[in-house]
Formats: sequence, structure tokens, C-alpha cells
Amino acid sequence: MSSNLTEETVTAAVRQTFDNAGDPRFREVLVALVQHLHDFAREVRLTGDEWFTAMDFLERVGKISTPTRQEVVLLSDILGLSMLVDKINQHTESSTTDSALLGPFYVEGRPSADNGSDISDSVRGTPMFVTGRVLDEDGHPIAGAKVDTWHSDGEGFYDVQQTEKLHDQFAMRALLTTDDDGRFWYRSIAPRYYPVPTDGPCGEILRAANRSPMRPQHVHFWFTANGYQPLITQLFWRDDPYIGHDAVFADQDSLMADFVRHEPGLAPDGTSVDEPFVTLDWAFTLAAE
Ligand code: BEZ
Ligand code: FE
Repeated sequence: MSSNLTEETVTAAVRQTFDNAGDPRFREVLVALVQHLHDFAREVRLTGDEWFTAMDFLERVGKISTPTRQEVVLLSDILGLSMLVDKINQHTESSTTDSALLGPFYVEGRPSADNGSDISDSVRGTPMFVTGRVLDEDGHPIAGAKVDTWHSDGEGFYDVQQTEKLHDQFAMRALLTTDDDGRFWYRSIAPRYYPVPTDGPCGEILRAANRSPMRPQHVHFWFTANGYQPLITQLFWRDDPYIGHDAVFADQDSLMADFVRHEPGLAPDGTSVDEPFVTLDWAFTLAAE
């Protein structure tokens, strides 16, 4: 079959090739993707050189990616697509805690910990005591909820970024379970603002755009509980200098928290601390399934 495609007709020709797709959602998404990609190329009058540069870029994004170096996720994050997908799919109830993206430093297989544990795994830093409650929309505690938490050290590095120094040990991350009162609590060290990885292809985009790679100080949480929608979110230190300039657009007003500084003394877990420490306390509300 011969064809006489033009800049205008090629789009319809490609769209048509999905007509027989068995899965209607697959067809809908792919047809829209083709349409928007083609419209994009027409709009910017994409040159062959530019497209080869872009394909080389995507290939490098794929090649540098590993389970602990997730450049594909990072690309989605710095383009704001991760936050967009988050917002599109977020429950709308105003009483529930807003979600924020997972990020590339979540790791499966993190250790379980009892409430009250020190999850810093001996990494040094300013002691931080986190206390939280997990509630339903009526304010009732959710017992037995799983609380996955992870954060950087006081220099802005996650454990997976310093595997040699930490001898592949997990640190500053753990899986906890809420008690009968929906409470969880742990000790760790205060995190700090940090740059997203800039030594890969995504760094090229940030530099070319003169964009800051920084993320304001935050702690990650991922809640799961029977009968409730999972919640992936982050809490930010409201006074961080990078609030309002998060490289991945996750720093929402509703997730601004106080990382309260204390002089040496009694910590929330009743222990005595002989150096300044930080406390973080928050009530998280999950949406019913
Ligand atoms: C993070 O918060 O861990 C993160 C999120 C997106 C990109 C880089 C890091
Ligand atoms: Fe993070």
C-alpha cells in the first residue's frame, strides 16, 4: 500500500494504527500521546538535529538508571510531571493530608523498626524526634497502619548515596507500625536541604535553564492501612531557604511543618538529650478506600 503522507496527514495515519487495540484505555492513552507529540513537533518546528539530541538524551537517562539511581524518575520530577500526575489522582477531600511525590530515594526492603527506635543507624547529626498520628477523616486513630519513612542526613545525603561509607547499611529509613492510638514515634537525625543529583543528564537540563537543583529540608512518609488509600507525602521545614524553589515542585503550603529546635533536655520520648535537638510532630489523615 503506497501512501502520500504530509506533515498534516501523518498524525491521522499513526492514530489509526491503534484502532484495533484490545484495551480501550491503552488506545486512548497512546492515541492522545501520538497526537500531542506530533503537535509538539509541529509547534516548535523540531529539527532533525534537535530530535537526535533528545533521543540521545533519553538513551543516557535510561543507561545511567539503576534501582538506586533513578534518573527516569528524576526527569519526570524536574519536569513537574510527577507532581501533575499526583495532583490529577489525588483524592479531593480537603480533610485528608496532601500527597507529595515519592522521589528516587525510596528503597524497598528497608528494615522494620519498633516505635521509639533510633533509625539513624549511628549516622551522626542533630538528634531529631518524630512523633505522628495516623487518623481517618473523622479524626479516629488508625491502628496497625504501616509507616514507611526516610530522609537525608544533616549534610543532605541519603544512605543509598553513600553505600561505601555506610557499608550498604540502611540508615535514616524504617518501616514502623502505629499503635492502638494511631501513634508512631522514632528518633533519627535532622535532615537538610540538598540538591537533586546533577551529575547525570537531568543536571544538563537544570544547568541549561539556570535552575536551582535544591530541595528544601523534608522527611518522606508512605502510609498504608487496610481500608484506606495509601498516602505518599513529605513534610517540609517551613523556614527552609529553598521553600518556594523546590526543584521538583513538591513544597506545598499544606505540608509546611515546624522542625522545632530545643536546647539540651528532655526529649518527647522521655530520654534526656545532652545536645540541642529537633522535634517534628504531625497528624496525618488518610482517605477511606
Ligand atoms: C526526594 O525527595 O528524595 C527527591 C525527590 C525528587 C528528586 C530527587 C529527590
Ligand atoms: Fe527527599
